[in-house]
Amino acid sequence: MMYTYVALVATACYLFYLYVTRNFSYWKQRHVNGPRPVALFGNLQAVALRRQNIAVVFRDIYKQFPNEKIVGMYRMTTPCLLVRDLDIAKAILIKDFDCFSDRGVSFSERGLSNNLFHADTDIWRVLRNRFTPIFTSTKLKNMVYLMEQSGDRFVEYVRQLCAEGQEPQLHRLIQRYTVATISACAFGLDFDTIADKMHVLQKLDNVIFSPSFIDEVDMMYPGILRKLNIDIFPKDLSKFFDTLVTTVVNQRKGKPTNRRDFMDLILELRQQSEIQGPKRSVEEQQRTLELTDDIIAAQAFVFYAGGYETSASTMSFMMYELARNPDMQERVIQEVDEVMRKYDGKVTFEALNELKYMEQVFDETLRLYPIVDPLQRRAQQDYRIPGTELTVKKGQMVFISAGGIHRDERYYPDPERFDPDRFSPENSSNRHPCAYLPFGAGPRNCIGMRFARVQSKTCLAKFFSAFRVSGAPETLREVRFVPRRFILASEAFKLTITPRKL
Ligand code: HEM
Repeated sequence: MMYTYVALVATACYLFYLYVTRNFSYWKQRHVNGPRPVALFGNLQAVALRRQNIAVVFRDIYKQFPNEKIVGMYRMTTPCLLVRDLDIAKAILIKDFDCFSDRGVSFSERGLSNNLFHADTDIWRVLRNRFTPIFTSTKLKNMVYLMEQSGDRFVEYVRQLCAEGQEPQLHRLIQRYTVATISACAFGLDFDTIADKMHVLQKLDNVIFSPSFIDEVDMMYPGILRKLNIDIFPKDLSKFFDTLVTTVVNQRKGKPTNRRDFMDLILELRQQSEIQGPKRSVEEQQRTLELTDDIIAAQAFVFYAGGYETSASTMSFMMYELARNPDMQERVIQEVDEVMRKYDGKVTFEALNELKYMEQVFDETLRLYPIVDPLQRRAQQDYRIPGTELTVKKGQMVFISAGGIHRDERYYPDPERFDPDRFSPENSSNRHPCAYLPFGAGPRNCIGMRFARVQSKTCLAKFFSAFRVSGAPETLREVRFVPRRFILASEAFKLTITPRKL
């Protein structure tokens, strides 16, 4: 009896092993080099066990294969491709975009899923077409005064902390500013009036950016969430954004105001009840989308999520690097002082455009710490990878590691060194369009890129007008990334903030 039991368990284990390794000869058969997979986890064991951030894992795999243009990998049990070659990346992201217009992350048809980031092509095209106008220069220009107000309050808050002798956790501190600006610019809300705001924020943050194991299930059975219509976000989150949108719609009595912000655009679109996508040829049938409350809440959600955390992480990495490099910090401060003097202490769109060195420091920060990484696309059809013998099959996922490319010494000599001069106009002019990808590239790049730059530079101009940052040697030795995050964020660290003597 005992032997039968052991034999049964051993057979079951063996069958399970065969099942979870069944695809592992896929890349070998196609003569594509890649890291050796581990049963069940493929090459993402460290990610699935929440030991390492996904961006770091992809970056390491990129580094392991310096002579390959493409690398064959397994996301859990499913084969996928990592592209290392810049011309191939350009073909996928830009030139042959129509073959790769899905990000491959869509899930349910309900709730918050139909947002610009997660949506598949048919819905995405309509949304992108209608929401791009929110981010034009004119719209951004009109929003700078809102950002400036948030910046002033932020500086006051930091001054108060300094007076109390507190050393705040930097990332958490900057989130206060980014949430306030996105609340004001997107929804016309005064964040300071929201009760218990940091608690609400923390709750949202955990839900939005902490991966759940359902992601691994989707990697093993790609598309299963979509097929089963499973919503990956809890009801609480949908409810929060439903309520937010309803509150703002009611405040404005259902009509656009003259703020010309995100909610105004939504209210304009809402009057049409249906929105249309672009028509790219005479034959193409125009896609329309009913503007349901779900669709509205989903866009509110993605602008909110995109608008506060990415910029907050970037700014905290930037302050960390400036604390490590005091000479660069002095250069930033000097530039801020000069520009602020010229504009009578007012942050305007024009003033921000003159903060050239700060822009270089910002770009160099995102080179070393690309927040949303890796980039990903799903093949819409079988596609022959240019310059190779390989055909990617319809439905397969293709990844591009911005972190890997950004630390590749072929494009950035001495890549671990923080050096903003890499982004001087002369040094940037000859760079391959896919050698720098913090905001992705092509028609599906980051829609909020310019908003993020203006939002961050406003905060940084205000901050460095008033303070300097420094850190203890042990803080400044090494950044440690949080493993349990979709996006790149550092483990909590504290910097000393010292008011400048003006
Ligand atoms: C420093 C700040 C930011 C960084 C580093 C960043 C980075 C990125 C990246 C890498 C992508 C994917 C691009 C691709 O696949 O090619 C993306 C997409 C996106 N981002 Fe950002 N982002 C930032 C700020 C923002 C802001 C402020 C917003 C909104 C207000 C935003 C909204 C979005 C949306 C909606 C998408 C999906 C676009 C689409 O699929 O059409 N992001 N972002």
